[in-house]
Amino acid sequence: MQAAAIDRFGPPSVLTLRTLPVPEPGPHEVMIALHAAGVGIWDARMRDGAWWPTDDPTFPIVLGTDGAGTVAAKGPRVRRFQIGDRVWAYEYANPKGGFYAEYVAVDADQVGRAPTQLDLLEAGASAVTGLTALQGIDDVLRVGPAKTVLIFGASGAVGSLAVQFAKRRKARVLGTASGRDAARLVRRLGADAVIDARSGDAVEQLRALAPDGIDALLALAGGDPLGRLLPLVRAGGWIAYPNGVEPEPKPRPSVRVRAYDAVAGPREFARLDQAVAEAKLRVPIAAVYPLEQAAQAHERIEKGHVLGRIALQIRGR
Ligand SMILES: NC(=O)c1ccc[n+]([C@@H]2O[C@H](COP(=O)([O-])OP(=O)(O)OC[C@H]3O[C@@H](n4cnc5c(N)ncnc54)[C@H](OP(=O)(O)O)[C@@H]3O)[C@@H](O)[C@H]2O)c1
Repeated sequence: MQAAAIDRFGPPSVLTLRTLPVPEPGPHEVMIALHAAGVGIWDARMRDGAWWPTDDPTFPIVLGTDGAGTVAAKGPRVRRFQIGDRVWAYEYANPKGGFYAEYVAVDADQVGRAPTQLDLLEAGASAVTGLTALQGIDDVLRVGPAKTVLIFGASGAVGSLAVQFAKRRKARVLGTASGRDAARLVRRLGADAVIDARSGDAVEQLRALAPDGIDALLALAGGDPLGRLLPLVRAGGWIAYPNGVEPEPKPRPSVRVRAYDAVAGPREFARLDQAVAEAKLRVPIAAVYPLEQAAQAHERIEKGHVLGRIALQIRGR
């Protein structure tokens, strides 16, 4: 099969197309013929070696943590899926290889049925970001009606979905975004108001929008612009951020701060499927690259200011 892989950690140019064996599904695994894979900033950190989870990497490494396609084969203990099912999946540092490939073999528990509302490119671009956004909004922040929620980094891959999941809970959703295009996108996705967190009067703007304080804040980036807004979270409020956000938001005595990781599982994918339908989810995709241009996709993601997600299209071009 064709796959985009690395033989050593390094810059985007180490990521090249090559022919590798198709991974065999184990007894509880599903082999997916991938239509599309998501590209995340964490993929770039894995490529350059900053975040590889083991001391002893086995090269070549096929990158990619999520994607969507159809079931091509399955192990004898897999009951939930049939050959040909449309699925999406998320697995971090899969030892059998990642999603920048024509085929991936993953544990069936990391796989869900792709929502009928999404095409396979949209599903491939939103498996892990969808889980991250939904679990932040529903499980960690427990966003509900009439709550004021701030999505910090609302135009990015996770933020653009979190805005919609919070809105479906009938919350008042505020977002941060920089530049006219990003602000317009976040408003189109349902945010009630958008501010530029890097602007000099961001604190005053947010205070005017939420005079009683912010009930819940989902932080998808760290640093000084976030630090200036954190005091506006009211006493008793919540701050959540997925691990990877740096620098990590500093705890405050009267505010609960929780870091979390996206979790994949049959129940998690079923909940995400339902939330996609409830939110009539739109998946903003900033750019689509063919598999052989995975290195260019990494160059693009490292430049920053991506509106939504970057995806690799593997089949169906
Ligand atoms: N642990 C997990 O399970 C998990 C899963 C998924 C993601 N994550 C982490 O979650 C974070 C967000 O992921 P993502 O894919 O949504 O990233 P992304 O697409 O790059 O989005 C980041 C957002 O933050 C904004 N931003 C960045 N730096 C900023 C700054 N200094 N001030 C204000 N805004 C800033 C960006 O806006 P601009 O365009 O204006 O810069 C963008 O909207 C990453 O750290 C990722 O590693 C963790």
